[in-house]
Amino acid sequence: MQTLSDYLGIIEQNIKEIQYPERPSGLYQPIAYTLDCGGKRLRPTLVLASCEAFGRDVSQAINQALAVEMFHNFTLLHDDVMDGADMRRGRPTVHVRWDQRTAILSGDTMLTLSGMLVRRGCTAEKSLEVSRLLDKTAMEVYEGQQLDMDFESRLDVTVDDYMEMIRLKTSVLLGCACRMGALMADADTASADALYDYGVDLGLAFQLQDDWLDTYGDPIVFGKGIGGDILNDKKTWLSIMARAEDTSGIMNRRFARPDEDYEKIELVRGVYDNLELGTRCHELIDRYVDRAIGHLDKVAITPAARQFFIDIAEKSRTRSH
Ligand code: IPE
Ligand code: IPE
Ligand code: MG
Ligand code: MG
Ligand code: MG
Repeated sequence: MQTLSDYLGIIEQNIKEIQYPERPSGLYQPIAYTLDCGGKRLRPTLVLASCEAFGRDVSQAINQALAVEMFHNFTLLHDDVMDGADMRRGRPTVHVRWDQRTAILSGDTMLTLSGMLVRRGCTAEKSLEVSRLLDKTAMEVYEGQQLDMDFESRLDVTVDDYMEMIRLKTSVLLGCACRMGALMADADTASADALYDYGVDLGLAFQLQDDWLDTYGDPIVFGKGIGGDILNDKKTWLSIMARAEDTSGIMNRRFARPDEDYEKIELVRGVYDNLELGTRCHELIDRYVDRAIGHLDKVAITPAARQFFIDIAEKSRTRSH
């Protein structure tokens, strides 16, 4: 197994080498802007590591790693329009830097590029397998994103509803990344399934942490605006628990005017603090990280490979961006 920084180096190099047509620049510049400006590259790392864990060279799965990262970045372009988010990775989002119609069309293009990349270098049989995996995952992500929007106006969302919504919008793509690498390495089905389950539970912890950071993160380090979830009435573990347990009435108060944004964030965060929801959310994150690591017992890989996946999961317990 190579180190995390080796994988990141390979991913960055290959992203840099992606050739976009020059014209129309209005279509391709926002794509290069999105792909160039960082991100943790968690999903392509999982693809490469999964492939290597089953004894194949990373070159076997590099196109599929790029495909998954391209797909992820496509979802971000559209997600930022849907969430009205202004900042990502410390820079203005595409719909702010350009406009909404640019974010939609460049996002569409990235979705198609991800389909082209995932098949690149594959035999006909493998091509069908990886396309099916990406298609199934994409449909689930869209369903999760729709539920995320539907939940904004609902007050009866349960923790179970929320967990299913984040499984769809976020976790299955991490699972897909793990399975993709395993597929490219011709791993046995039982191991590929268990590694998929690792990715899904890691993804649940990952989105719980993302939602925690949306309230408690440092915007400079996180690279995204803070408080957007509260302002959009997003249903998160924090907000669902607060609604269930708080008796102050703040969770039901209407904040209609834009100049009340700051007050709303402060008051709701105060409710979370009183109920110690931040700490309790971290206990839940720990449980999902533990569960993710538990699946690795069923994956037939070397101790070094297993340790790599444990390290990724351990790091996600306390990530700040
Ligand atoms: C952001 O994903 C979207 C979520 C599922 C929370 P990341 O936090 O992996 O974003 P980047 O790619 O590192 O910027
Ligand atoms: C992201 O959820 C899920 C996606 C499929 C993009 P969020 O809306 O919380 O992600 P961020 O916080 O904007 O990155
Ligand atoms: Mg968002
Ligand atoms: Mg969103
Ligand atoms: Mg978020």
